[in-house]
Amino acid sequence: MKTEALLEAAAEAARKAYAPYSNYKVGAALLCADGEVFTGCNVENASYGLTNCAERTAVFSAIAAGRKDWVALAVVAEGESMPYPCGACRQVLSEFCQEEFSVYIAKADALAEYEVVCLAALLPNRFKMTN
Ligand code: THU
Repeated sequence: MKTEALLEAAAEAARKAYAPYSNYKVGAALLCADGEVFTGCNVENASYGLTNCAERTAVFSAIAAGRKDWVALAVVAEGESMPYPCGACRQVLSEFCQEEFSVYIAKADALAEYEVVCLAALLPNRFKMTN
């Protein structure tokens, strides 16, 4: 799958975001080795700390479907800020992804101007259990 198509899937997921508190809609699309894509959006809550980011929604959806052979993640947000994954999402990705895993990041109104970064750059010296 082309990067542009994965970004488009993330943009489509962002349209489904439930973000009445921040009004910042985020979508994520996780590409599996066989081309299947799992998407997610941010889901906010009146108790703000219960909010789930788009990235973790996509990750949990793929895990629940029995898939963890991922090759890339796209994250897209509607709004002015680039949706660089938060610390919690970086650590959750680290649980399943190699250091070379690619994350594509873009704003919905400028998908072609995406940035790409690998997990090692997002989360240096990541914590992993070795046993
Ligand atoms: N958010 C995400 O879903 N992913 C990101 O990469 C950054 C932040 C969400 C969480 C919350 O619903 C809103 O954006 C504002 O922080």
